[in-house]
Amino acid sequence: MISSLQQNVIETFTQRHGCAPTSVARAPGRVNLIGEHTDYNDGFVLPTAIDRASWIALRPRKDGRVTIFSRNHGELAEFDLATMTKIAGHWSEYVKGTAWALQEAGCKLNGWDGVTDCDVPLGAGLSSSASFEMAVARAFEVTSGFAWDPAKMALLGQKAENKWVGVNCGIMDQMISAAGKAGNALLIDCRSLEHRLVPLPHGTVVVILDTATRRGLVGSAYNERRAQCEAAAKFFGVKALRDVSVAQFNAKASQLDEVTRKRARHVVTEDERTVQAADAMQKGDAKLLGKLMNESHESLKDDFEVTNDALNVIVECARRAKGCIGARMTGAGFGGCAVALVEENTAASFANTVAADYEKATKLKPSLYVTHPSNGAEIIS
Ligand code: GLA
Repeated sequence: MISSLQQNVIETFTQRHGCAPTSVARAPGRVNLIGEHTDYNDGFVLPTAIDRASWIALRPRKDGRVTIFSRNHGELAEFDLATMTKIAGHWSEYVKGTAWALQEAGCKLNGWDGVTDCDVPLGAGLSSSASFEMAVARAFEVTSGFAWDPAKMALLGQKAENKWVGVNCGIMDQMISAAGKAGNALLIDCRSLEHRLVPLPHGTVVVILDTATRRGLVGSAYNERRAQCEAAAKFFGVKALRDVSVAQFNAKASQLDEVTRKRARHVVTEDERTVQAADAMQKGDAKLLGKLMNESHESLKDDFEVTNDALNVIVECARRAKGCIGARMTGAGFGGCAVALVEENTAASFANTVAADYEKATKLKPSLYVTHPSNGAEIIS
């Protein structure tokens, strides 16, 4: 079945260029089931690629110029691969940043004309930017002919984001967008980038609960949490908190100041929960997965302190609703989305109940999406 966004980018491309595109690239956003604020501690994460994505219809050019029209922004951006300059805050920086990182890695790039569209909500914490970077990387792959290695592409996307766009993210978002598989979550070891597919337990679905709150200062709070984790790793004499077991943490925790102790306790216990969650999924144990998700939220609320009232309220509404197996905030926090594991046959009534309860409690209108784990970045045609 041809998706409506796929159709949109093909049609707009054909109208603008007077010929059909030669390829269509697609790369998904993500929702993380468990393993939050662990990626930059070299730990474990368990996200799934969602069925919302960035799309690019494209056709190679004979020169080193890239032109891309964004249907979301109603705007054309153009640049030469040999002479790229930064325009802070512009959507096309993700295209240039990805091209820059690929060129830095030695890839010889060809230019292309493209049209892009995206139905990952922007700024909601569902990784619209990682999805765009990975779609752009696929566009360059198909026009320039280098090999697609998901981990390598994810690292280059992260480099684009860190060094070109200037956002200090970990590796999770690009990695799941590059390597996801339909029907599965992916257990990622963020140190080695080894990854293993784990199927969703039979009879369950993942529901994304967007609180409709956005927090402007996520960046500075995120960097502060990273620094606190680094200080804790230093105290334990290890490279990253990933190297501290729960027993090792407990043995020395009383020597830490309260804030550092709470931050480290979240990361150390979250790593353990994430590995347990992947095992639970492998065994089809939805109940245990749900329990671990609930515990993760409490830890993010009380120890890592990255929830807000809206996230706490929507998680409570979700847990009260029939069919909920577990619920937690997802992504960086401070606003954005929560995620719930729900019995498949109750998904529609669950979404209605949670939306009504949340709106009553907060006067905010949430968006709820039942999502199905999708493939990672791919060339569709
Ligand atoms: C953001 C970052 C990720 C990760 C999460 C928290 O989404 O982009 O790398 O650190 O926050 O788990």
